[in-house]
Amino acid sequence: MSRLDSFIRRLEAQRACLNSAVARIRDIPGYILELGLGNGRTFDHLRELLPDRDIYVCERRVAAHPDCVPPPDRLILGDMRETLASAGEWLEGRVALMHFDVGTGDAAGNVVLAAELTPLIVPLLCEGAILVSDPEISSALLKPMDLPQGVAPGRYRMYRRQNVTA
Ligand SMILES: C[S@@+](CC[C@H](N)C(=O)[O-])C[C@H]1O[C@@H](n2cnc3c(N)ncnc32)[C@H](O)[C@@H]1O
Repeated sequence: MSRLDSFIRRLEAQRACLNSAVARIRDIPGYILELGLGNGRTFDHLRELLPDRDIYVCERRVAAHPDCVPPPDRLILGDMRETLASAGEWLEGRVALMHFDVGTGDAAGNVVLAAELTPLIVPLLCEGAILVSDPEISSALLKPMDLPQGVAPGRYRMYRRQNVTA
């Protein structure tokens, strides 16, 4: 598969998973948390689909399209390994949908970062919340979900936050 085809399929999978997650969290109150603003594509998509929800965005350094920059009071600026640790105080158990897309070109580094961030992000999800993620996230509290039709396994991921006892 060419790199162009692979890129297009990744974006199609990302959009299909986000659309599916948005439909499934309609009855779950809570914040939306976008991890990785990048150029703002998925933030823009989420705010279009969920105009009435508070969407918070974590990013190290804003370099998004000017139309896709979140308002300052919704932007959590800095290294997520630090900002998410402090955000736990007010975000714990209050996120209904989280999108984890913090990857860079460094595949090994992405795996390490996902492992570092996992214990910080899982407690932020309320029960029944959905995590849509580029990398695999391993936690006993997260149950992998079936992917939307047409999304190949492993291309993108969806998890449901469950109870400790579930
Ligand atoms: C793949 S891009 C996000 C793309 C975005 N979802 C979009 O659709 O445009 C990943 C982003 O995560 C950010 N990032 C990576 N590691 C980070 C960290 N440790 N703390 C904060 N931001 C980080 C990068 O600066 C980059 O903008």
